Amino acid sequence: MVRFLCNAVLAASLMGGVFAHPGQDIQEEMIERNAYAASPDYQNLDHCAAEIKERDHELVARRMAMVDELRQKRGIKVKRTFAEVLAKNHQSTKKVTADSPYSTIFGSNNSCILQAETTEGPYYVTGEFVRKDITDGQRGVPLTYDIQACIIDTTTCKPLANVALEHWSCNSTGVYGGVVNPSNGNPRDSSNLRNTMLRGTQFTDSSGILQMESIFPGHYNGRATHIHILAHVGATTAANGTLTGGHISHVGQLFFDQSLITKVEATSPYTTNRQSLLTNRNDGIFADEAARSDPVMNYVLLGNSVSQGIFGWATVGINSRTSKTVVPAGHYDG
Ligand SMILES: *[C@@H]1O[C@H](CO)[C@@H](O)[C@H](O)[C@H]1NC(C)=O
Ligand SMILES: *[C@@H]1O[C@H](CO)[C@@H](O)[C@H](O)[C@H]1NC(C)=O
Ligand SMILES: *[C@@H]1O[C@H](CO)[C@@H](O)[C@H](O)[C@H]1NC(C)=O
Repeated sequence: MVRFLCNAVLAASLMGGVFAHPGQDIQEEMIERNAYAASPDYQNLDHCAAEIKERDHELVARRMAMVDELRQKRGIKVKRTFAEVLAKNHQSTKKVTADSPYSTIFGSNNSCILQAETTEGPYYVTGEFVRKDITDGQRGVPLTYDIQACIIDTTTCKPLANVALEHWSCNSTGVYGGVVNPSNGNPRDSSNLRNTMLRGTQFTDSSGILQMESIFPGHYNGRATHIHILAHVGATTAANGTLTGGHISHVGQLFFDQSLITKVEATSPYTTNRQSLLTNRNDGIFADEAARSDPVMNYVLLGNSVSQGIFGWATVGINSRTSKTVVPAGHYDG
């Protein structure tokens, strides 16, 4: 059964202009985003950069082992080592600041990601399962990512354990599961309401780390390629495997290098997506996040071609004392 918090028509009208101009809800997201940035809850993350970068460095061995494991699992043999690729990326690291020109932001090789707050957008569904593999059989480029959530605290900048980080993204052809509306795939396909694809939650361990297994997201009209994340502090896993309790401390979006998106979009089934592709450069939410932090995921290709899989990582700064209210498009209840 799927229970709507608001029906499709109401949800669509709240988004403003969705019927006429898919993607126009961005304006509303931008207004909310800017209001948050101006509020006392918002903290600039620059002061955490050095500490996070240091920890990023400590995590290299762990990430190398994980990439080796993934390569072995998928039977991928490569001549170059992960260490070489990673060292190369680190060498060309550039710190992105609010004053960085777009050419630096859009083309930089970043080793450290500080995630600014943004909004949940129109496709958030509550009640999804706590699980690591959120693929649900969706076809696409395998993406395993490793996210470190970290408290934004002027004195500590320390990793935060037991944070439940929710993830959701569209599939390779730009459709979200769990939501039926005129700007999300086929509005007559009611089976999509019960579709849990590419949605799920993982808890951070004592080092503030969690992993997700998914596919690289596709794209849809009006937005650059992205993954949504939402952090719950104080939540636990209920008997039926969903989240219970806690409060929401962070709502964000992770982006990808345009060059990586181009490679993925050249593979099947991404090539069959008929929606228009908006680049990072033209996405208002990307520009807004990039002006305050670096929202682009770091990555390494597991093999020689992108279709063999991607390993990505990011550091997400959250303020555990913040409690945010979000507006879901629906609720999954089994
Ligand atoms: C990123 O790294 C590559 C390879 O090291 C280098 O060719 C390129 O100039 C770097 N880009 C930036 C913006 O630093
Ligand atoms: C993406 O999801 C939609 C909705 O379930 C589905 O119709 C479409 O076939 C999916 N794309 C691929 C490539 O499976
Ligand atoms: C899990 O249990 C909660 C509490 O009883 C309920 O509200 C929710 O709908 C259930 N979800 C699923 C997927 O069964």
